[in-house]
Amino acid sequence: MAPIPGCTILQGDITSSSTATKIISNFHGLRAHIVICDGAPDVTGLHDIDEYIQGQLLLAAVNITTHVLEENGTFVAKIFRGRDVNLLYDQLRILFKRVSIAKPTSSRNSSIEAFVVCQGFKGGDYNDLPLEGGFGGEGSGGLTDPSMHKTERDRFAVPFIACGDLDGKEGEVPVEGFLDADRSYDVDEGKEGLKAVQPPIKPPYETHSNLKEK
Ligand SMILES: C[S@@+](CC[C@H](N)C(=O)[O-])C[C@H]1O[C@@H](n2cnc3c(N)ncnc32)[C@H](O)[C@@H]1O
Repeated sequence: MAPIPGCTILQGDITSSSTATKIISNFHGLRAHIVICDGAPDVTGLHDIDEYIQGQLLLAAVNITTHVLEENGTFVAKIFRGRDVNLLYDQLRILFKRVSIAKPTSSRNSSIEAFVVCQGFKGGDYNDLPLEGGFGGEGSGGLTDPSMHKTERDRFAVPFIACGDLDGKEGEVPVEGFLDADRSYDVDEGKEGLKAVQPPIKPPYETHSNLKEK
């Protein structure tokens, strides 16, 4: 990534405890109002595997979040709404007072991705979950909340928030300025807003594209 003024940039795998520790130590014991995670694996097209990896990434982000988010803080993360997504919702509902799902217009309709918005971090016993040894702390594979009755869990549907009007407008943005996230736009059209803000520094496909240019 190109440097961003005022930002500390760390490169690492958030599912590894060494990266998690580095991130947490940068907070120097302070806690944030909000944590945002846009992490996603390079999808393979094998949906079960992609959803599983995305779920593990989300749990790793939540785990770190419990170390750096203040009580009542907000956590927003990319999530794949696959078959087992309710397992993730259940875990998030233990940690946060309100959990909802939003699909911004910038996210392609055809994509399974959405953003989970978790508000009101409960803190307390849920602060600083162990970074290793299972999300539930005992290798059990999950947090449990005995006060949450099974039938209450079964009946709960996470609210879904669609963004933008039915006519394709977002708020007061005129229709011609509205970009369809499912369409590819020619970056050479020269339209304001379509130019790349920052070219990639060292994309993984660099060698291939250099070979193609020769
Ligand atoms: C959708 S992209 C994020 C795009 C970014 N928000 C932007 O505007 O450029 C998902 C990112 O998650 C990163 N990622 C995937 N697995 C990760 C992991 N285990 N640890 C850290 N980052 C990971 C990928 O390298 C990729 O850069």
